[in-house]
Amino acid sequence: MVFDNLFTSSSEEKFSPIVRQPRKGVIIGAGQVGMACAYSLLIQNLLDEMIIVDVNQHKLEGEVMDLNHGLPFVEPTLIRAGTLADGENADIVIITAGVKQKPGESRLDLVNRNVEIFQSLIPEVVKFCSTAILLIVTNPVDIMTYVCRKISGLPSSSVIGSGTVLDTARFRYLLAEKLQIDPRSLHAYIIGEHGDSEVPVWSKVNISGMHLVDENYEAGKPIEPQLQEIFAQVKNAAYEIIQRKGATSYAIGLAVAQIVQSILRNQNRVLTVSSLINGIHGINDVCLSLPAVVNRQGVTRVVNLALNSTELEQLQHSGKVLRQTIEQLDI
Ligand code: LAC
Repeated sequence: MVFDNLFTSSSEEKFSPIVRQPRKGVIIGAGQVGMACAYSLLIQNLLDEMIIVDVNQHKLEGEVMDLNHGLPFVEPTLIRAGTLADGENADIVIITAGVKQKPGESRLDLVNRNVEIFQSLIPEVVKFCSTAILLIVTNPVDIMTYVCRKISGLPSSSVIGSGTVLDTARFRYLLAEKLQIDPRSLHAYIIGEHGDSEVPVWSKVNISGMHLVDENYEAGKPIEPQLQEIFAQVKNAAYEIIQRKGATSYAIGLAVAQIVQSILRNQNRVLTVSSLINGIHGINDVCLSLPAVVNRQGVTRVVNLALNSTELEQLQHSGKVLRQTIEQLDI
């Protein structure tokens, strides 16, 4: 063969290539969120194989064609339209399928329609992808994460939701913009529901360990109006974006990619993903967001965040809102 003389072997032992399992992901739902996830995963080279599933085959084919035509510009990823049966041995399944908020609709308003979709979808996911970590993005994400865990019967560590990872990013971005610093150098958390009852942990906002507000601020000493306005922008961000462009997509796609990266690379990043909470801050049997360690097993550890009395009260209220919604479901 003409190539026989191309190389000189530098050692006697036969070269045995390291066999690395391909990183395989399934994205269920090729809507604006699902495709933003696909695009973020592609350009960050987080998967070797990406299967995208959607009920609308015609649109799905167009989305996959469009992604594949960009492959010469990025690291190779095998991207194809498929079904859940193609998801065998997937490492991660990202679920974005479901109805989305219309202008003015809250995330909780979607619950009954999306639970109905999950009741038929999740058994199929378990049938073909039972060894995967399930990452729920469908809203209301905390409820849908709880429902998915319940229907799937999978360990709660491997069924997690995108939670308030995006809200935490919005919080960091808006505070950092005010302070004219890189958002990656400002540490702040939004916890609880990914929704109207979410909680800003003002006592922990810091830059190089320097707190933005008195750690022990209490209801009696309200947070400065300009900071309260920033939190209002965080909480209402989705409504504002949906009113203008119909849906949010890019930032949630990037948030999902960060979660997937921590899982597939076993990074143990601390992220405010939604996971099943039992016995923390007096909250039980509900999925909501607290800073949690994210790795190849999903979520195995949650940070015992020291909250002041105002934050604890708000978090417990958020837990109650989610618990009441769950109790009204027939699951
Ligand atoms: C948002 C969606 C992902 O907050 O709930 O943009």
